[in-house]
Amino acid sequence: MPTLNWIGKEAVVNHDKEVPFRLLRKVKSASVGDNSQNLIIHGDNLEALKALMPYYGGKVKCIYIDPPYNTGNENWVYNDKVNSPKIKKWLGKVVGRESEDLCRHDKWLCMMYPRLKMLHDLLSEDGVLMMSIDDFEITHLRNIADEVFGEQNFLTQVIWHRKRGKDNSAKFFSRVHEYIVIYAKDISKVSINRIELEERTKKAYTNPDNDPRGAYRKLGAWARGTQGGSRYAFTSKDGRNFPERLWLVNKETMLKYDQENRLCFVGDKVYRKLFLSEHSGAIPETIWLDASNVANASDEIKSIFGNQIFETPKPIPLIKRLIQISTTDSDIVLDSFAGSGTTGHAVLDLNKEDGGSRKFILIEMEDKVAKDVTAERVKRAIKTNEYNDGFEYCELSKPLFNEEGHIEEECDFNQFATYIYFTETQTNIDPKGIDGNFIGEKTDTEYYLIYKEKGKNVLDKSFLKKVRKSDAKKIVYADFCELDEKILEDTGIVFKQIPYEVKVY
Ligand SMILES: C[S@@+](CC[C@H](N)C(=O)[O-])C[C@H]1O[C@@H](n2cnc3c(N)ncnc32)[C@H](O)[C@@H]1O
Repeated sequence: MPTLNWIGKEAVVNHDKEVPFRLLRKVKSASVGDNSQNLIIHGDNLEALKALMPYYGGKVKCIYIDPPYNTGNENWVYNDKVNSPKIKKWLGKVVGRESEDLCRHDKWLCMMYPRLKMLHDLLSEDGVLMMSIDDFEITHLRNIADEVFGEQNFLTQVIWHRKRGKDNSAKFFSRVHEYIVIYAKDISKVSINRIELEERTKKAYTNPDNDPRGAYRKLGAWARGTQGGSRYAFTSKDGRNFPERLWLVNKETMLKYDQENRLCFVGDKVYRKLFLSEHSGAIPETIWLDASNVANASDEIKSIFGNQIFETPKPIPLIKRLIQISTTDSDIVLDSFAGSGTTGHAVLDLNKEDGGSRKFILIEMEDKVAKDVTAERVKRAIKTNEYNDGFEYCELSKPLFNEEGHIEEECDFNQFATYIYFTETQTNIDPKGIDGNFIGEKTDTEYYLIYKEKGKNVLDKSFLKKVRKSDAKKIVYADFCELDEKILEDTGIVFKQIPYEVKVY
């Protein structure tokens, strides 16, 4: 597979592994409701995604992102480019002095690549990533997404008609569309739901004979040569004879349809009734002319805030459709470039419409946006529509380990156990499975943590009675080990020191 190279690539390909784990600190005053499983996180998504990893790694069903398009347009409310002081600082730190020579595309790629890797790791095996983008970075985005997701997992590149009316002052072409690039985590496990039929399609369904099953469309029951099918003659239950020919369904099914009054006859033609009430919906197409537009999205923002508080929102119907085709029930939806919070709003609206209980996680970096726009919009949507749901607003707290590699004081047993278990197993802990010092078990290995007071956690003989009687290998985290080699060998215990032996995820 051809791969893309750019200045700074080596510095960022494994950067996702170097990002420190941070704790999330709930801000009660900015949250809505108690203990909601919806999250709005204020912070750079690179660090926020890492903080989510021990809890949500492999669990997110749908990720939608609308990253900066890198257009070079300076006048946006947020920084649509990696010249943002925060990103610049980050690039300076990660890519080093070389970052001063990077062109706009290099910087954008440096920003996107480690984030894409984390998003990949957060997705469930049947999960889907959907990314809004336009002509400026589409080629680069496809290249790096192919690299991170595998080109076989590319699903499609939807063209979304974003703007009605053309711009006659454009130099060459009036750009009225953008893309939504869609990848599966694993194409063999993904499924895409059908969408509701368009109104004009529904109008083609009628009920001329007042069938109690409602409106239907007539579909010819005969097959053309290329369609396959079965060849036979048959007699309908009211005695009409149809000579041998090629039919779409086999004889048994045809006679069953006739018994169930699903056939209608016009001259020598046989039709099958396709009822609207039984229609499974339309398969999504790759050009979306009908999924709202940017002017509607601005109107949505104005109707919520009274003015255009955020310049580049996406319309709710567009995001709702993306979530609807890729999720069901209680799936988790993540948007790590949340902006005005359309994704949270769309999740709540969709849940209300179809009775689902999907959860959302939104991440927004800009100080002026996260609380006053992202969270405020979702808060107002909940209030206006009387939604029985809320969200927890979180800030990124200190890294779990300080610069010397020591664990932070404010980290409690369960938080630390979560990180230890995740870094050891790359899977999420089952909080209900924590039992005293035992924190979990995977592939014939049990994990234990002795952690009460920083620097004073000792693995000694008294701990042996807390270890389960089993043949499994036992990994025990503590500060010191007072057991000799022989005891460790006899009991199958492997001692690991807090935190130096924690493998970096
Ligand atoms: C195009 S807007 C998203 C608009 C959003 N889809 C909506 O409907 O309102 C991109 C957002 O990503 C945010 N952003 C950019 N870089 C980020 C980062 N590294 N971490 C978190 N948010 C970031 C920007 O501040 C901006 O609000």
